[in-house]
Amino acid sequence: MPWDRTDPSPVLRQWAESQGLEGRGRRGVVVGCGLGADAEYLAALGFDTVAFDVAPTAVRVAQDRHPGSAVDYRVADLLDLPEEWLGAFDLVIEVYTVQALPDPPRSDAVRGVRSLVAPGGTLFAVAFRSDGESDATTGPPFALSRGRMQSFEGDGLEAVEVTAVEDERWRAVFRR
Ligand SMILES: C[S@@+](CC[C@H](N)C(=O)[O-])C[C@H]1O[C@@H](n2cnc3c(N)ncnc32)[C@H](O)[C@@H]1O
Repeated sequence: MPWDRTDPSPVLRQWAESQGLEGRGRRGVVVGCGLGADAEYLAALGFDTVAFDVAPTAVRVAQDRHPGSAVDYRVADLLDLPEEWLGAFDLVIEVYTVQALPDPPRSDAVRGVRSLVAPGGTLFAVAFRSDGESDATTGPPFALSRGRMQSFEGDGLEAVEVTAVEDERWRAVFRR
């Protein structure tokens, strides 16, 4: 799989280091966690970390790769989230999940990601960049437009930055 990686997303790592991110006493969640590299990074920063994926095979491989991990890996669907996760996380990490989905249900996926952020919490998102008005029509992955990245805003979640970064990616940060 092209997203099979053992290191955290370089865009995430760069941002976390620039912020001096430290998670002790805070809850983090990794959406569509795949094989767990970003979740392990969050846990290493001290976050009490949940990581979920709709694919049981992804969750199983993530657990097998990280025996004894502090991460709470779960099989769950971004489009049908457990009630107790809504507004429950100080840091929400979304890397390449929304762009993996056709539209529909891409807009519902954006709403799902947003719904996880606690009051005072932060959403950090990375996606392939489309420089056009709309998301790419071919995929997956469907490169996302600036407007789509901006659409994580809502329900009190406000953009801190939506920045074009190298390798044709967006780095986007929001606070509630
Ligand atoms: C392109 S992969 C990215 C994985 C990981 N975030 C990374 O960057 O390596 C997209 C992931 O989203 C997961 N996914 C797709 N739809 C989902 C949904 N509705 N709920 C949760 N995970 C989903 C897929 O199973 C897959 O692991």
